[in-house]
Amino acid sequence: MKSNNHQDLGLNPDTLPAHVAIIMDGNGRWAKQRMMNRVKGHEKGSETVRTIVTACRELGISNLTLYAFSTENWERPKAEVKALMSLLKKFIISERAELLEKGIRFNVIGQKHRLPEDVQAEINTTMRVTASNTAMTLNLALSYGAREEITTAVKSIAQKVKSGMISPDKVTTQSISDHLYTSNLPDPDLLIRTSGEYRISNFLLWQIAYAEIYISQTFWPDFTRQEFIEILKNYQQRDRRFGKV
Ligand code: FPP
Repeated sequence: MKSNNHQDLGLNPDTLPAHVAIIMDGNGRWAKQRMMNRVKGHEKGSETVRTIVTACRELGISNLTLYAFSTENWERPKAEVKALMSLLKKFIISERAELLEKGIRFNVIGQKHRLPEDVQAEINTTMRVTASNTAMTLNLALSYGAREEITTAVKSIAQKVKSGMISPDKVTTQSISDHLYTSNLPDPDLLIRTSGEYRISNFLLWQIAYAEIYISQTFWPDFTRQEFIEILKNYQQRDRRFGKV
């Protein structure tokens, strides 16, 4: 997008977040308000995913991470888990061509191996065909939990220490970051949670150390491009000090 378009929107193209992470919450309550099945909320929510991915690409936000399924979500009723997996599969297949066309790299963070095999296969195909795209990275957090991620990283570092590959004093914050699913991504600058809940819910605990947090009252299915732009404006007005004065 040309910078005069950003100016029309009230945005400064030079200080956009390099990485936006979103906890997409409120699909169930959106559906309940309408006396609909929760799955309808997830369906409408996947349309919002499309809108926000497109907005990020147009605005020039290089990295977007969406919390689509947590390790805890496996505990939901079987039918809801099944419906979510089938929606994900549908999304990954239907968006493949557009991701390619728009130069978006598709990536998954989380316990990919726990997902149904057919979903894994579609993920792998989309990751493979979009691997050389550089305009933007879309990260889906699937069967993701930050404590599990950190535990896996610690185990892997402990193994390396045990085998003598690295010495304990060479374990740094950077080496821990390098062992996380997000090793090839910058830390999120902005974390958005929808539906008015003030919780992190085991999302990117290490990576959000200095992220600006924005809680939207809107249920995810009702979240719009316009509200997203307003949040970006709010972000651009903040004074980020990273612990300094
Ligand atoms: C939270 O709403 C949302 C989820 C657990 C799943 C998010 C999934 C989607 C937006 C749709 C599919 C995703 C993609 C990438 C196509 P909730 O069910 O916890 O809502 P509630 O708190 O109101 O019950």
